[in-house]
Amino acid sequence: MAQNNIESTLHENRHFPPSESFCKNSALNHKKLDALYVKASEDYEAFWGDLAKQELDWIKPFSKTLDDSNAPFYKWFADGELNVSYNCLDRQLKDNANKTAIIFEGEPGDIQHITYQVLYEKVCVFANALKKQGIKKGDRVIIYMPMVTEAVVAMQACARIGAIHSVVFGGFSAEALKDRVEDTQAKLVITADGGHRGGKIIPLKNTADQALSKGCKSVETVIVFQRCNNDINMQDGRDIWWHDAEQEQSAECEPEPMNASDPLFLLYTSGSTGKPKGIQHSSAGYLLNAINTMRWVFDIQEKDVFWCTADVGWVTGHTYVAYGPLAVGATMIIYEGVPTVPDAGRFWDVCARHHVTIFYTAPTAIRALMKAGDEIPQRYDLSHLRLLGTVGEPINPEAWMWYHRVIGQERCPIVDTWWQTETGAHMIAPVPAVTVTKPGSCTRALPGIDAAVVNEQGEALGPNQGGFLVIRKPWPAMIQTIWGDDQRYKDTYWPYFDGKYYLAGDSARIDEEGYFWIMGRIDDVLNVSGHRLGTMEIESALVAHESVAEAAVVGKPHEVKGESVFAYVVLKGERPEGGVDEDMTNELRAWVAEQIGPIAKPDEIRYSDNLPKTRSGKIMRRLLRAIAKGEEITQDTSTLENEGILLQLQGKA
Ligand code: WTA
Repeated sequence: MAQNNIESTLHENRHFPPSESFCKNSALNHKKLDALYVKASEDYEAFWGDLAKQELDWIKPFSKTLDDSNAPFYKWFADGELNVSYNCLDRQLKDNANKTAIIFEGEPGDIQHITYQVLYEKVCVFANALKKQGIKKGDRVIIYMPMVTEAVVAMQACARIGAIHSVVFGGFSAEALKDRVEDTQAKLVITADGGHRGGKIIPLKNTADQALSKGCKSVETVIVFQRCNNDINMQDGRDIWWHDAEQEQSAECEPEPMNASDPLFLLYTSGSTGKPKGIQHSSAGYLLNAINTMRWVFDIQEKDVFWCTADVGWVTGHTYVAYGPLAVGATMIIYEGVPTVPDAGRFWDVCARHHVTIFYTAPTAIRALMKAGDEIPQRYDLSHLRLLGTVGEPINPEAWMWYHRVIGQERCPIVDTWWQTETGAHMIAPVPAVTVTKPGSCTRALPGIDAAVVNEQGEALGPNQGGFLVIRKPWPAMIQTIWGDDQRYKDTYWPYFDGKYYLAGDSARIDEEGYFWIMGRIDDVLNVSGHRLGTMEIESALVAHESVAEAAVVGKPHEVKGESVFAYVVLKGERPEGGVDEDMTNELRAWVAEQIGPIAKPDEIRYSDNLPKTRSGKIMRRLLRAIAKGEEITQDTSTLENEGILLQLQGKA
């Protein structure tokens, strides 16, 4: 089993009770929360079953809450039928047709307000367009879009007709896109001519063309949304403009009745070994946890303006952009670009102009904006904010304090939310009017979520002992399987503890007050700017270069990105003089960017004659990690073929 005896180096004792001003108007108080915990512990199934009846509109009610007969392939609300898009849109029309669903702001500054009625019509028209292109229930559709309203329209339209979408982050390369198209065997790709990002146009359609030219035989149609008017090629018989595909399509489209456990989407995530995993999510269970966490953790209310800054290419952009906010009838912001265009005040400017009340972002963004100084946010009126959130990686207490003081003006609680692509929705997070927060802790498991920290035997550990973070009972929004690979699903998430506990892959500790502190990944996944990157994938990309013989990649703590990518490379030819070769380094960085995406580019590359391996031939990553950090070496290095390599790895020879 992976790491044992995980030591914690973080000691943080500050406590922050929720402000009075926040509590006054919050929907979930102490008493109600306690009642939820009591109910969940007394009758777990009734707890989730009642919530599913309250929160979801069913076409056909379910008769059984949890089917665990084929664990770990759990089925929630198994014989029920519903439609996710109906639950997000149609049911808002009765009272909220003219309420704003989406406030869109493009990076160049264009703004649109879209009501629930208009969004409903857009989704129906596009759903009919998809049908016209031959898309049916169960077909896979790849969405490779910029962060525009139409990305959400495309996702909702798929949900409406029962097609399974798989969104690929717009920053991913042709290679990564191709892999996902091939793994899903998608029939249709939805993309855009381009998207605005960082003051540039990201040429999505060109990249999609490259991907499709490398195989992807399953793809029959490409629908292209016109966003940037940049020059692109349209391939006859395959490519069609979004606006042409919509011609003559009706603004009504009957929602397809879906079984509760029919897949809603696939989202690919990196593992430590092998190719990315297509995480498969259900319809009903997924949506239920999206909804109840909107209420419990975000305290969402009628008048809120909710802004989750995540791109729809990540799970956060699925649950808290495309589905959760709509399913509760909220108003939300979609912003196309980066936080630093035209300057590091953009996020605060958007918050001020659109009167954002709930703001949810990643620690990496907070750290970057913190670096720009207090003076920038102080230029903007942030008085509408009432709640702040973070997700994606542990937030260091210093960044938490800055967020609290400068952005939240000591008035807004901070919800540090722990969850994963696989969990579908928040699992461990504060309930803002109740939980006393501590900087750097995601606090406690939500009602109905049985999270624990255990040792190799599955025994719960005592206070502050680091161990494996597990979930001991199934929950509605849990991963269903890895697309096309049930065995890998079992091996990855249920390998120990008799297959009874879900293994999150994170190490954690619980303090004496019952608060969870996430310590990192137990496998070799990097977390760069909140994006999980498999070391194996980056290594494979490096090794795919003609000059590279071997490569090992580790994470090195980075002030802004969380972790940076540090690569050790063995070249096929001679090791460069003194281990330095800037041309080769630049070439390899560009190569990795092309193979995986710019986010995976090694920040540093060190050349050596060999890599340190264990007797069984496994790369000694812990040693390499220590070297990357410049730490003293305490590991046994006697198995090294050549002790001189150590100096090379350290950059000293
Ligand atoms: C990490 C993102 C500490 C963790 C929703 C997890 C966190 C991985 C937190 C999942 C948090 C996410 N505190 N660590 N609040 N949130 N993580 O699949 O290592 O992109 O396993 O899902 O990010 O990343 P993923």
